[in-house]
Order: sequence, then structure tokens, then C-alpha cells
Amino acid sequence: METTIYYFTGTGNSLKIAKDLCENITNCRLIRICKRNMNINEVTSERIGFVFPVYYRGLPKMVANFIKNLDVNSGRYFFAAANFGSYAALTFEQIDILLRSKGKSLSANFSVEMPGNMWFMYYPHPKEDFINRMNNQSRITINIARKINNNYENNIPVIKNRYKEEKMYEDFNPNNIDENFWVSEKCVGCSICSNVCPAENIEIIEEKPSWKHRCEQCLACIHLCPQTAIEFKKDSINKERYKNIFVKTEDLF
Ligand SMILES: Cc1cc2nc3c(=O)[nH]c(=O)nc-3n(C[C@H](O)[C@H](O)[C@H](O)COP(=O)(O)O)c2cc1C
Repeated sequence: METTIYYFTGTGNSLKIAKDLCENITNCRLIRICKRNMNINEVTSERIGFVFPVYYRGLPKMVANFIKNLDVNSGRYFFAAANFGSYAALTFEQIDILLRSKGKSLSANFSVEMPGNMWFMYYPHPKEDFINRMNNQSRITINIARKINNNYENNIPVIKNRYKEEKMYEDFNPNNIDENFWVSEKCVGCSICSNVCPAENIEIIEEKPSWKHRCEQCLACIHLCPQTAIEFKKDSINKERYKNIFVKTEDLF
């Protein structure tokens, strides 16, 4: 049985999980959800998986749009692996609704706790918690891969505080959030921010990044800038940046 995993990532957590899954699932290939892959429509796999971070209690907009566009006719088994600071919230239900509109449904859902990368909600995680999550991730993911190999199925967990979570997701409109990004004199015009952006939202003009207002709010540009030259309002000043320690910046190009 062939498996395709589609993953979206900003700071590498989802990439690490997707890679670990793929290495432990037989006959598996990995495809990144990013602007240049938005029109992929040649799925032939019987097993189809989605790996993604939770944003504002729901799916990153790019992931939702990608699944909307995807031809899933070949699929017989669908899985979703969410990673997050707190919990998967609305994401599995959102994927199931998208699949049901195409006559399919989500067969299995999996959750992986990871360090949160969003300061204005809860960053930084307590150090101990952070280390535990990094240490446990591979073992948890290999266990998930074993279940996927056996086409394990489960039910979508009940959503706590549905009204609150839906309200939060409703307020998630990332495209123009980049109006709050700015670049300090530390910028050397290396263009890493532009290379890691999954939305191709950054153009380098006169050796400085310029954002084009189709941001997905993945925060890759801020977190991965080697000079820590990119800031979000005043919120990020002097705050530690985050990248999954097992992923190289170039893996996100
Ligand atoms: C815009 C944004 C919103 C987020 N919202 C949530 C959330 O609602 N719940 C949660 O548990 N984590 C949330 N997070 C944390 C990420 O889901 C988490 O850090 C994830 O592992 C990042 O994955 P990545 O490294 O693949 O980008 C949010 C992160 C960002 C950037």
C-alpha cells in the first residue's frame, strides 16, 4: 500500500514528525504543503496523511485550502497527525468535514505535543516540559507509524469548549499579520527569511525583506533569521527564537 504524507511546517516540528513517520511507514513519500505545491493533484496513494501544527485551535489556512483542492479519489485510509503546544482542538473535525465533502472521511487522528512557537499565546514553554517533549517525540511518532501500518482507526476526540475554540479560529486571519513585522539594523540581507517562507510572501528589496500580505503566520521568518533581525511589534524583542533542534534551516527551503 503506497502512502503519501502532506506536511506543513514553519519551525520544523511538523517536518521532523512527518520524516519520522515516513521512515517508519512502508512505501511512503513526503510532500510539503507550500505555495508552489498548492496545485498538486496527482495523488495515487491509497493511504493519505496530513501532518501540521495547530493554529488558533484549528488548521493553518494553507492546509485547509490544500485539502480543499486535493483529489483524494485514490485514498482508502486517511490519517492526520496534529502537533501543538496544548491540544489538537478543531483540526481533526475540520479535516473530516473537508474529506466528507469529497465522499471520504478521516480514519485515524494522532496528537503529538511539541514546544509552542508562538510567544503571544504561551511561549516560552517551561524548560523541563520543552526537553521532555523533544525527547519523547520520536518514540511517540514511531508508535503512531506502527498503527498507521496496521490501518488503525479511531474516533475524533470530543472538542472541549467548542464555542470558545470556534470563536478563536474565526479571529484567525493571517494574511495581513505581516504588517506587524519589522526588520532591525541587524539584518544583513541574507534572504533566509524569504527562502523558508512557505507562502513565498517575502521579497528582498534593497537587501531587506518586504512582506507581501499573504502571510500564513507560521513565524518561520522571525524564528529562523540567523541575525534575530525580524521582530513582531515589540512582542518578540529579546525573546528567544525557536527551531526544532533536529531540523536544519536548509531543510525548510
Ligand atoms: C500562529 C500560531 C498559532 C498557534 N496556535 C496554537 C493553538 O491554538 N494551540 C496550540 O496548541 N498551539 C498553537 N501554536 C503552536 C504550534 O502549533 C506548535 O508550536 C507547532 O509545533 C509548530 O509546528 P511547526 O514547527 O511545524 O511550525 C500556534 C503557533 C502559531 C505560529
